[in-house]
Amino acid sequence: MMKVAVGCDHAGFVLRRAVLDFLDGREDVEVLDCGSFTEDKGDDYPDIALKVAHAVASGEADRGVLICGTGIGVAITANKVRGIRAMACNDVDLARMSRAHNDLNVITLGGRVVRPEQVPEILGVWLDTPFEGGRHLQRVNKISQAEGAALCSQVNGRTVIFNHPLVQHKVGILRSRDTGARQFRELVQEIA
Ligand code: RB5
Repeated sequence: MMKVAVGCDHAGFVLRRAVLDFLDGREDVEVLDCGSFTEDKGDDYPDIALKVAHAVASGEADRGVLICGTGIGVAITANKVRGIRAMACNDVDLARMSRAHNDLNVITLGGRVVRPEQVPEILGVWLDTPFEGGRHLQRVNKISQAEGAALCSQVNGRTVIFNHPLVQHKVGILRSRDTGARQFRELVQEIA
């Protein structure tokens, strides 16, 4: 069973119905509905995008579907969360390639761009297309590295992950080929 988190803002509210109807019709999908639950303009797309992105990044959901007017605002926001690869795929070809090449884990749709009748084909292809791996895995891994992979250490036989943002930031500088020996030593001291 694949758990899919779904969220939208007011501009995505109408298309959300088509998304939920399609997902409800799939026996292999369980929906985590993150709202919005009204068409009121009181919501801001970053709030809902972060809800869905965190659900996917934490493993509470396997994939995410986000809808705003264009699919752009929610994608920009979701990509701020480490581990999220989100993009607007407002047609079938983009949906297929985003899975095969980029292992996209959050698809975003434009409620003012995509028609409800296009949803089954776009989402069906997106859910069913596997990641190709191989040379694409190497590239996706480079994206993860750019996000600042966690620094791990063995302490008394246990693996400890240092994932504080400040440590991540300094480790990023440490790893840069432009960092000189002196700055490297100073950073090691500060991290320790
Ligand atoms: C809201 O009017 C609209 O700006 C939003 O849904 C989205 O399209 C932003 O990217």
